[in-house]
Amino acid sequence: MKVFISRKIFGPIIDFLEGNGLEVIVNEHHRKLTQEELIEHCQEVNFLLNIGHIPLDGYFFERCAHLNGIALASVGYDHVDLTQASRFNIPVSNTPEVLSKATADIAFLLMQAVARKAFYMGRLIERGGWKDFEFINNLGVELEGKTLGIYGLGRIGLELARKAKVAFNMNIIYYNRHVSPLAEEMVGARYVDFEALLAESDVLSVHTNLSPETAYRFNMDSFKKMKSSAIFINTARGKIHVEKDLYNAILQGEIWGAGLDVTDPEPMQATNPLLQLPTVCVLPHIGSATIETRTKMSLMAAHNIVAASKGEPMAQVINKEVYNKSNQQ
Ligand code: 8YV
Repeated sequence: MKVFISRKIFGPIIDFLEGNGLEVIVNEHHRKLTQEELIEHCQEVNFLLNIGHIPLDGYFFERCAHLNGIALASVGYDHVDLTQASRFNIPVSNTPEVLSKATADIAFLLMQAVARKAFYMGRLIERGGWKDFEFINNLGVELEGKTLGIYGLGRIGLELARKAKVAFNMNIIYYNRHVSPLAEEMVGARYVDFEALLAESDVLSVHTNLSPETAYRFNMDSFKKMKSSAIFINTARGKIHVEKDLYNAILQGEIWGAGLDVTDPEPMQATNPLLQLPTVCVLPHIGSATIETRTKMSLMAAHNIVAASKGEPMAQVINKEVYNKSNQQ
């Protein structure tokens, strides 16, 4: 049985797959494949270990209906049409939990960087702009005792809340589909509605998945309802905020600034005006990019492929109905 891996991966992961009897084919290009190229590679394999965000939509599944399993090396699966995957009985797994701490670290880093205009100050030095000392210039804001609002309190949001509580004794409020007794117990988080989240947050951090309900939820209308001193953080998906509105909101003083690890589109162009704003910090989607986390993610994905190759259920399957269906047959 063969598996195709859509981006380069660590050697030991390949060894692990081969050690379990799989023939491994890796995308050796130093670039993202087009969907057509991915489809072509999938023709010769039984499994796909998918890294990155190439759309796995109806078009893809109709041409790759023969696949016996897809393991995503990501927690997000907004690029996958699960209905289509299930239609063709293809189990799809993701990598929950293992990247929560690393991603929360990036949100935490961005929150501080925006508060103290850190990236801008660094750029200033590079441009030879560190000339003199002015007592009332280069001022940031402090996070101690401020209110952190979490939009979408899952594992990543809770991890950020925990760090913010310990480091800055922040008050935690959250808006979620469900109340989280764990968050209330762990960090004294208080559930609020969306309007209150906007109005009360000093820092508002997005930790939800991208869905029709969350797409473009943060637009001019929402930024206007936030404090003029508020910091907006997004480490989830770039399409959850409207980039042009975010830029205008900061420029017009509707909010203080923003920290982004995700943009729309990705990569962000070097000429993007957001990059010039002193209170904006942008990172190139590195939430899960640590040696430890990427190792865990790829190992989890590889375990799921091995399970599927043995006819066993993938431990982190998302479209569980594929297994229920086959049990009924
Ligand atoms: C990855 C991510 O960088 O897990 C996710 O959903 O966005 C990131 O961790 C990326 O998806 C790698 O495939």
